[in-house]
Amino acid sequence: MAEETTYHGLIEDLENYLEYQRDQGVQRLEVDRAVMEALAKEPEAVAEPEARVVEAAPIPSDFKTLDALAAHVATCANCELCQTRNSTVPGEGASNAPDILFVGEGPGAEEDARGRPFVGKAGRLLDKMIEAMGYQRGEVFIANVVKCRPPDNRKPSREEMDLCLPYLRQQIKLINPKVIVGLGGTAMEGLLGRPVGISRTRGVWVEYEGIKLMPTFHPSYLLRDPSKKKDAWADLQLVLAELGKEPPPRK
Ligand code: URA
Repeated sequence: MAEETTYHGLIEDLENYLEYQRDQGVQRLEVDRAVMEALAKEPEAVAEPEARVVEAAPIPSDFKTLDALAAHVATCANCELCQTRNSTVPGEGASNAPDILFVGEGPGAEEDARGRPFVGKAGRLLDKMIEAMGYQRGEVFIANVVKCRPPDNRKPSREEMDLCLPYLRQQIKLINPKVIVGLGGTAMEGLLGRPVGISRTRGVWVEYEGIKLMPTFHPSYLLRDPSKKKDAWADLQLVLAELGKEPPPRK
């Protein structure tokens, strides 16, 4: 079955493709006239669904445990994503200074149905990536920038990210991972607070609050463009080297 691609997915692919071309020194692209005309047209107005007014409530800054934080997330109504979610997805995994925290963008349909991060198709690939590194899924922590599913898997807005980020920031403090792996541009944008082009920045360590942070491709992107898996694997090998580990022999 073909991988489902959302509008957001297409835009991300296009961004990554253009960034890649630019990095290869390409300065001109031929674009079909019909495409240019279509791009120049004003998009058709889409009727906005009537939004329920959501009062942002302060998120406590002193959660003592991840469970307390997850319980708060479960009742959170700080942004509009609460209106369409079925479950909140706070994150899961090893919570006592694990080697790695993986941070994704936000729950998709399966995650929203099950209340667990990365349990759909992208999650199955993430599991393989984790195993290739020599870990079991339960030995790392997996979380997202936003804890509720954006409808149609669209990219969470800057405001939604900002309203939700206090949860991730406190999770990171409580978990205290040795390194963080940021999966895709949106995860990196959430962590660093600015837009991040993942093709250009992947594979180079940056820091989040004194913790080493490795940007790499999101597994959904790798499903759409498997030729990038070798780059992602190179990034994960840098993570292993930082942790003083080697990948186990391939099965
Ligand atoms: N994609 C994400 O970024 N997070 C998930 O939990 C699932 C898919």
